[in-house]
Amino acid sequence: MKRPKVTIIGAGNVGATAAHWALSRNIADVVLLDVMEGIPQGKALDLLQAGPVDGFNRRVIGSNDYRDSVDSDVVIITAGLARKPGMSRDDLLAKNVEIVKSCAEQAVKYSPNCVLIVVTNPIDAMVYTAFKISGLPRQRVIGMAGVLDSARYRAFLAEALGVAPRDVNALVMGIHGDNMLPLVRLANVGGVPVADLLDADTIAEIVKRTQHGGAEIVNHLKTGSAFYTPGLAAIEMAEAVLTDAKRVLPCAAWLEGEFGISGCFLGVPVVVGSAGVERIIEFPLTKEERAALAESETIVRDQMRATGL
Ligand code: 2OP
Repeated sequence: MKRPKVTIIGAGNVGATAAHWALSRNIADVVLLDVMEGIPQGKALDLLQAGPVDGFNRRVIGSNDYRDSVDSDVVIITAGLARKPGMSRDDLLAKNVEIVKSCAEQAVKYSPNCVLIVVTNPIDAMVYTAFKISGLPRQRVIGMAGVLDSARYRAFLAEALGVAPRDVNALVMGIHGDNMLPLVRLANVGGVPVADLLDADTIAEIVKRTQHGGAEIVNHLKTGSAFYTPGLAAIEMAEAVLTDAKRVLPCAAWLEGEFGISGCFLGVPVVVGSAGVERIIEFPLTKEERAALAESETIVRDQMRATGL
């Protein structure tokens, strides 16, 4: 019986944290890959030694050689530059597109049957890059953003409502950027619409804070961006693939007519299982929501053009 295997490309904060979450949740053997000598090896050895305490029973290795990633079920691309204060995710595009091209090419060379999850920013353009370079079917190339953004939205709503975060359901669609679309209409706690529990100004404030959630952390850290929840969000997606969980998760998926959009990655609710994006959950949007999604689409298409692919 083949052991589930996840390769994480990039042993920086996001990649190493994703490895930590994957092991702590005992979801798969982990290969932590990086171009930097010693970094993946050291972090993987450190993680291995947590096994007896945390209780996970998985193999974990650090490597600079893609051959170690052979036959991975899921490959997560986190490699790339992270934002500094004052930078937009777009500022990273030119540099990170070259990095993601190389990662995608190598990943599918050794794991042609993998599901590729892309985390590197600007994510909507980088998942497009991986899609174009890998040649994988659209189902098996997924961008991690909506799980992160929706987690922030839910956390802020839970804080305002004084309730358990897991009982707040809320969806963020569109671009992983300032124009993302936290849907107010569908946000609820225990099935009760948040619009019936919080005043409009409070909700508007939470929507704005969600849209700028990444920058708020970058401004605190000064030297980089968030990594705990981005790493966990990627593992939430990977776990859904490895266990064929049919989880409904907001992910950047390649649209071919869904929501009236074709030929573009955008954050939408999808069913994630062993085949990757097994279904896109389409539903009627209001005029305002559709306009907001169209704004996302315009920005993502500009980014796609900037990749030169
Ligand atoms: C964020 O929103 C790093 O883009 C990621 O924090």
